[in-house]
Amino acid sequence: MSESNYLQRLVDKAAKNVKTIVLPEGEDLRVLEAAHIINQKKAAKLIVLGDENQVKSDCEKNGWDFDGVEIVNPNNSPKLQSYADMLFELRKDKGMTPEQALATAKDANYFGVLMVKNKDADGMVSGANHSTADTVRPALQIVKSKKKGKVVSSCFILIADGEEYILSDCAININPTDVEMADIAMDSAESAISFGIKPRVAMLSYSTYGSGKGESVDKVASATKIAKGYLETDEYKDLGIELDGELQVDAALDDVVAKKKAPASKVAGKANVLIFPNIDAGNIGYKLLQRLGHCEAYGPMLQGLNAPINDLSRGALVEDIVGTIAITSLQAK
Ligand SMILES: CC(C)(COP(=O)(O)OP(=O)(O)OC[C@H]1O[C@@H](n2cnc3c(N)ncnc32)[C@H](O)[C@@H]1OP(=O)(O)O)[C@@H](O)C(=O)NCCC(=O)NCCS
Repeated sequence: MSESNYLQRLVDKAAKNVKTIVLPEGEDLRVLEAAHIINQKKAAKLIVLGDENQVKSDCEKNGWDFDGVEIVNPNNSPKLQSYADMLFELRKDKGMTPEQALATAKDANYFGVLMVKNKDADGMVSGANHSTADTVRPALQIVKSKKKGKVVSSCFILIADGEEYILSDCAININPTDVEMADIAMDSAESAISFGIKPRVAMLSYSTYGSGKGESVDKVASATKIAKGYLETDEYKDLGIELDGELQVDAALDDVVAKKKAPASKVAGKANVLIFPNIDAGNIGYKLLQRLGHCEAYGPMLQGLNAPINDLSRGALVEDIVGTIAITSLQAK
């Protein structure tokens, strides 16, 4: 496996404060190889869900070290019934019956999220074999938003020319309102801080300070105003977050353009947290950087949840899974 310096740094950082991470997809060889790498580096304590004999046989065949990794089969776990009871309590108002709760708790993604909810694990990484919706839904239903009524969103860490950037929301909220976009900006700034990045947040648009007109420009301008209001509250005022908008992406990133379009801005020209107006812009934007710009991208990482649960792309490589496990450990402070 090729390891970038960035990945190496993430793994080393995670090893300094070991957390327990559950991996529901023990049937996937990429997940098992990533677990072997993390286990060898002692970067997390791992719980792999799946058939114990199958997992052990796959590891033996490939020479992967699973010493110390716990393998749990949800179907015959002694905790299954108590997790099902917990799920029933949480979802009975939504019409879930005890029988449905038991059947649902056997699903690996639900079982993993219930482990996190019960504090048997600090975080979860899944999605190598599941769609984003199937990975994220149990987390939204069970672990829920950290702040009632606020959206859970996602971010990518992107490495371009050795610099780290946070991009959001590229994976969850399809067309956030102005308030939701402001909340996404705050959660992204906090994610940046948890990864050791000092956030300079750009609220992105096709317009800079009113140069373009349209509904979505108005939305981003309003989101910027709301977010600037948040920055004056006790919760955020001492976190060192800089935020500005609405900005075009060239004004956000390029110093020369910034001097022309937003000369007084503390963010323009040096933004490192990029907030997109909708999921089309975000998803297309990060994939262009990954495919044509050859940037490393890790994510989507969920933010605003009560515990770190992160999604993988179904095309994830082993190193992507290693990086996501390390990041999940770092989020689990
Ligand atoms: C994330 C997503 C799957 C949730 O939608 P869904 O499965 O239809 O979920 P529902 O609307 O039924 O909501 C399920 C629960 O999650 C909650 N929820 C949904 N979106 C939420 C959000 N952004 N933040 C917080 N809670 C959310 C709902 O309130 C609901 O809670 P409840 O059942 O306790 O009342 C959906 O927004 C989605 O498909 N987003 C795009 C994903 C995608 O395709 N990404 C691109 C590829 S990476």
